[in-house]
Amino acid sequence: MAALEQGSIVAVIGSGAMGAGIAQVAAAAGYVVKLFDTRTGAVDKAIADIGKVYTTLVEKGRMSGEAAIAARARLHSVATLKEVGDAALVVEAIVENLDVKRMLFADLENVVGDDCILATNTSSISVTAIAAPLRRPQRLVGMHFFNPVPLMALVEVISGLATDPAVAETVYATATAWGKNPVHAKSTPGFIVNRVARPFYAEGLRLLQEQAADAATLDAVMRDCGGFRMGPFELMDLIGHDVNFSVTQSVFNAYFGDPRFTPSVLQQEMVNAGFFGRKSGRGFYQYGEGAAKAAA
Ligand code: NAI
Repeated sequence: MAALEQGSIVAVIGSGAMGAGIAQVAAAAGYVVKLFDTRTGAVDKAIADIGKVYTTLVEKGRMSGEAAIAARARLHSVATLKEVGDAALVVEAIVENLDVKRMLFADLENVVGDDCILATNTSSISVTAIAAPLRRPQRLVGMHFFNPVPLMALVEVISGLATDPAVAETVYATATAWGKNPVHAKSTPGFIVNRVARPFYAEGLRLLQEQAADAATLDAVMRDCGGFRMGPFELMDLIGHDVNFSVTQSVFNAYFGDPRFTPSVLQQEMVNAGFFGRKSGRGFYQYGEGAAKAAA
């Protein structure tokens, strides 16, 4: 199955950490990207940030000046969902909530053409469940990128029970055309990576609660001796505690309360406090201008 052609219109809904990364990669690969977000100023900020990344890539000799200008010109901000009616592919990267995602896809079904593929970047929600209320659930597939999108090659292409195999193949080929290494997977709770990663976070959080060591020490041990690129606390700070906590809740609920996946009260409190990690300036570490990377 062939990839969507270069120059095809890709709508990215949600321009937070993931949406911005997906837009950056798709535009750099030659696709026209329309970005939408309900938060005022979010799209403009995302496009400005992507422009800065392209400039840095040019300075480092990893992208030509012409390619950067062309990629930047392929990024468009849209103010209403109606404006994505001509998209060949919509990638949803909004809040990790089944009802909100279902509402968005119901609205999208009313504006896009019959051939448009609907993809969700959900980390953990059943793709089958997101698709179920659609008039054409066979066109919905998971296109699960990893954070940070421009650096992480893996994309899980997730088929729900109703997903048309041809849709999954087209998304697989398109992810390849975007320079990614996709893998097919079925819609099981947490899919592949987020399933096997749950104990990494959960045991780290338990060790911290038991005061075995502080977050920085536990991270250093996992990095230096465990061979991981990041320890559990710096990785949760990067992902966002709001996102990470809701993924754990979703996997826990999907396995009917299996205690192996019990969410952490400590992380729940971080979410309650608004300590989401890098994106809010504070998580297990402090971020932002002038803030030394010190354990919170
Ligand atoms: P984020 O909080 O950085 O961005 C979400 C964006 O969606 C925000 O800008 C928000 O204003 C917007 N939004 C919320 N509801 C909307 C709606 N109804 N219509 C349009 N825009 C809306 O979140 P992030 O981290 O980018 O995550 C987005 C999705 O990607 C979630 O489903 C998450 O589980 C998934 N994901 C997150 C990863 C991560 O490491 N953060 C990794 C892989 C997937």
